[in-house]
Amino acid sequence: METTDVNVMPHLGEKAPAFEAVTTQGKIKFPEDFKGKWVILFSHPADFTPVCTSEFMAFGKMQKEFEDLNCQLIGLSVDGNSSHIAWLRTIKEKIEYKGMKNIDVQFPLIDDVSMNVSKLYGMIQPNESATKAVRAVFFIDPNAVLRAMIYYPLSLGRNFDEIKRVLIALQTSDNFGVSTPADWRPGDDVIVPAPSTINASYERMANKDEDITCYDWFFCTKKLTKEQVESKLGK
Ligand code: BEZ
Repeated sequence: METTDVNVMPHLGEKAPAFEAVTTQGKIKFPEDFKGKWVILFSHPADFTPVCTSEFMAFGKMQKEFEDLNCQLIGLSVDGNSSHIAWLRTIKEKIEYKGMKNIDVQFPLIDDVSMNVSKLYGMIQPNESATKAVRAVFFIDPNAVLRAMIYYPLSLGRNFDEIKRVLIALQTSDNFGVSTPADWRPGDDVIVPAPSTINASYERMANKDEDITCYDWFFCTKKLTKEQVESKLGK
């Protein structure tokens, strides 16, 4: 589990690195403690800083939405547990921001003073900061496979609707064997495999199934209703 190499980067499609950690919700063992669940592991640079506070309020407000998607949120910074607890209490008791107040962050926040976990996940990027984690987000599926990752610099607060959209798109892709086009949202058409490289066959495919539209031989979409998507979410 321990590594001192900050150049280690996780790779999509591989098992997400295993770790044990102390958190605001007690000790956790990843992936064992999260069997059968999606996990979003995300890092922030430091407690008691403004961008991070705005992010925790936004994510904290959406906790139930992620729970409903069978997704466990896990935060991390290289601060200690007492700092985490004091910061989360301050957020809950004192901060009112953009109509959000009394935000009670209930997901675990990892104490990574040792930087063991941050280094395993390539969260320490010395040209951005040698002493703080960047803003990273890892989407991990119920088989503990790393499915998507996003890295942001210290100065840029994340868009949590986009993080939810990515999770829903991954679940939809798995549930229906489809890909999702640019800016996809539930209810929009999804991408189905091109029928073959024989140019004429896409027209046959589109003619056979009125839910399918082909724009060219390599680009076909299919209707997938919001209800169909939602009936399988969290799976
Ligand atoms: C912030 O959350 O505001 C922040 C944290 C670390 C460095 C820069 C900004």
